[in-house]
Amino acid sequence: MDSPVVLSVVGNRPQYIKAAIVSGAVRVVAREVLLDTGQHYDRELAGDFYDELDLPRPDIDLGVGSAGHARQTAAMLTGIADAIVAVAPDVVLVYGDTNSTLAGALAAAKLNVPIAHVEAGLRSFDRRMPEEVNRVLTDHVSSLLFCPTAAAVANLAREGIVTGVVQTGDVMFDLAMATLTPEREEAVLERYGVRPGGYVLATAHRPATTDEPARLAAVLAGLGALSETVLFLAHPRTAASIDRHGLAGLVTPNIRLSGPVGYAESLALVKNARVVATDSGGLQKEAYFFAVPCVTMRDSSEWVETIESGWNVLVGTDREALAAALADPPRGARHPAFYGRGDAGRRLGAALGAFLARIAVGEGSPGRAVEALHPSERPSDEGRAE
Ligand code: UD1
Ligand code: UDP
Repeated sequence: MDSPVVLSVVGNRPQYIKAAIVSGAVRVVAREVLLDTGQHYDRELAGDFYDELDLPRPDIDLGVGSAGHARQTAAMLTGIADAIVAVAPDVVLVYGDTNSTLAGALAAAKLNVPIAHVEAGLRSFDRRMPEEVNRVLTDHVSSLLFCPTAAAVANLAREGIVTGVVQTGDVMFDLAMATLTPEREEAVLERYGVRPGGYVLATAHRPATTDEPARLAAVLAGLGALSETVLFLAHPRTAASIDRHGLAGLVTPNIRLSGPVGYAESLALVKNARVVATDSGGLQKEAYFFAVPCVTMRDSSEWVETIESGWNVLVGTDREALAAALADPPRGARHPAFYGRGDAGRRLGAALGAFLARIAVGEGSPGRAVEALHPSERPSDEGRAE
């Protein structure tokens, strides 16, 4: 019997990072076809991660690039639908909560192909965030929902989703635990000229932080109020926004503004920071993995357990609240293992394998995918596998 086929959709920095664990697990139980939407395209957000994390090269590269949400998602949707028809996968696998995630889920749902969602069940309960809409919609069309935490499982249950839900643990925790060595950390700190616990690590990329000049100015002012070094790894949109809004004057000498860095470097900088200031989902978690306090420059978080346990605090973009939290960072009394035991990839692979074995006796997805097409889009019968 032919191997089952999984079409995996990636397209953003955090998805390449998660794929470093998930792709290996998928390839144990299926033939993986990797599709990159091209949502991220700068080397430092995309290509470099293939090299650093030794990811298989994408079989299909859509190259959609940047655009407004509708246009970008629409371009991905048609490109992924075409790929599904060509590849005829048994399952489409999507990651997280970005536009690439939603496009992959929607394309598969329209073609009746089962969807597996990595990082299912997260909720910030803030529908103004594009990511929240992407998560909710993706979960509701998914057949297999790989949840990183117990809170994610509970969120799905509240929305009536109880079938196909698997609490795997967090694949980013697996990778974080496998990545650093003392020598590697030392080399990174030496390069930056900082000591463990002697600096603040900052990142920002959400529209709510970066697109509104007053909010971005408040963030820079809060970071600038510190006397210690702030390593600010800016997403290109953040750097562009600082320039566009004439905020460069707020980048005080203690703020060392740079572009994005590689994964191991970012992780080493998180682990050794006195405190992390961020609006990133992944960094909130990574700070928790290493018991580093986190100050989150957002009004809500989907990683609720980091907040409830006292290791993370929400400050929005309020300058005073940010400065106060950085001066006296949150430190929980306990540090429970919310994110599993470092075997999330193995658990995910096992659940995916069992699912594929169950559907192997079914009708098979290729025929169903083709039937879901508009007649004008269907390939001619010639050359179609029986
Ligand atoms: C996207 C995701 C966000 C995720 C983040 C991970 C959505 C809606 N957003 O945010 O959930 O947390 O990725 O990093 O899916 N740009 C570049 N180079 C690139 C890509 C983008 O300069 O390679 C600039 C462009 O000006 C672009 C802007 O960044 O318009 C935003 O890019 P986009 O992919 O829409 O969102 P991110 O902020 O990267
Ligand atoms: N990261 C990185 N280089 C950087 C900043 C972040 O490799 O310059 C890593 C970080 O360690 C984490 C992931 O990117 O593993 C988080 O991705 P991002 O903040 O882009 O997206 P989010 O998690 O908010 O969706």
